[in-house]
Amino acid sequence: MTQPKKLFIKTYGCQMNVYDSERMAEAMGGQGYVQTDRPEDADMILLNTCHIREKAAEKVYSELGRYKGLKAERPDLKIGVAGCVAQAEGEEIMRRQPLVDLVVGPQSYHRLPDLMARTSNGAKALDTDFPEEDKFEHLKARPKAKRGPTAFLTVQEGCDKFCAFCVVPYTRGAEVSRPADRVLAEARDLVERGVREITLLGQNVNAYHGHEKGLAGLIRELAKIDGLARIRFTTSHPNDMDDDLIAAHGDCDKLMPYLHLPVQAGSDKILKRMNRQHTAEQYLRLIERLRAARPDLHMSGDFIVGFPEETEEDFQATLDLIAAVEYGSAFSFKYSERPGTPAAERPQVPEAEKDDRLQRLQALLTRQQRALQDAMVGREVGVLFEKPGRMPGQMVGKSDYLHAVHVAAEGLAPGDLRRVRIVESGPNSLKAVLV
Ligand code: SAH
Ligand code: SF4
Ligand code: F3S
Repeated sequence: MTQPKKLFIKTYGCQMNVYDSERMAEAMGGQGYVQTDRPEDADMILLNTCHIREKAAEKVYSELGRYKGLKAERPDLKIGVAGCVAQAEGEEIMRRQPLVDLVVGPQSYHRLPDLMARTSNGAKALDTDFPEEDKFEHLKARPKAKRGPTAFLTVQEGCDKFCAFCVVPYTRGAEVSRPADRVLAEARDLVERGVREITLLGQNVNAYHGHEKGLAGLIRELAKIDGLARIRFTTSHPNDMDDDLIAAHGDCDKLMPYLHLPVQAGSDKILKRMNRQHTAEQYLRLIERLRAARPDLHMSGDFIVGFPEETEEDFQATLDLIAAVEYGSAFSFKYSERPGTPAAERPQVPEAEKDDRLQRLQALLTRQQRALQDAMVGREVGVLFEKPGRMPGQMVGKSDYLHAVHVAAEGLAPGDLRRVRIVESGPNSLKAVLV
């Protein structure tokens, strides 16, 4: 019997890349590849990359550099670059790093097995098209293997918003939604395989229009699936938060009380220059409406500090907005100049200033998150258990609000959804007992 070939995939960037990596591994599974977590054992190495900030993109080149020795030892090792760096810099990757055999952009993954075949005689292959056909419909059906209790499911891709700082509209292309019936079929299949929580993914997931009633319509259909206990979605744009989606947070029990709704900045001047198409006030009113529908909603956000021409006063407006919202979690970044985006042409904020603002912003966010987490002590919440903890007898899972929670109790298994009482709040997780 011949040994199966081995595939090592390293994933960078957002959850959509995580989902795509799974689907690529499955596609290569059809070609006889099994996954390995050791690059030194692999017949094929695939980097699924992110272009969002300069550091993310540079990581790819340093990672590729590490494979020089492996490639020298085994010239038939295939090295591929997928994802957003592949899309943005495909030809440059080929030039800068001759050990790369194959480059595939995010909309062409269904062509990966063909591209691989093309490299068999030492040729190089590059595909960064935005093809007419939908990659997901051309990827083979997902194998029936049992899987863990949580899963990502991409329902929407691409972005038409063109925020002045962002590469995503260029790397992922225009907004496209998958038809609701396909999404529902994939969700039912995931549930049959043991999944109890699905996170719907899209670069602008609430711009979803594959169902006549938009994302809320899709969520209400998903909620009818027996065995599916929890639904989440990410990432949303404030301007695509329609009335029905707001209402769903109040009337759909399976929709979890946690919402990632990036705002990026609190100064109207900066929001305008970012091309976000809304004001700070509009964002705050939107959160008021969401909290009227679901009072315990935990908010999460993304922030950029040091956007071109951001003054100390503009930055203060961001701190004020954060103080008004009280975030349960957040992600914050120093502005990174991206080639080809309008903001890269504007006067830049000095690096030291960006560092200082990021520190102050993160200090405030950390205080808020910690306060909200501490306020959980004594409360009862649902927890979906995912895996054993580090201590014997312990299980770890996520609360309705996405806190990591651990519980020491006999007989708990991954996939169990139980009510717990929070008894302690630590730096990164909560401790609880079953009720
Ligand atoms: N589609 C989502 C997220 C896109 S990228 C949205 O609209 O919110 C994730 C986050 O990366 C963004 O929310 C933003 O905070 C950050 N980001 C994007 N481009 C950036 C850049 N050039 N510099 C720093 N952070 C950036
Ligand atoms: Fe980027 Fe803005 Fe689109 Fe989000 S909405 S992906 S930040 S361009
Ligand atoms: Fe990065 Fe592309 Fe996602 S740039 S954040 S991997 S859409």
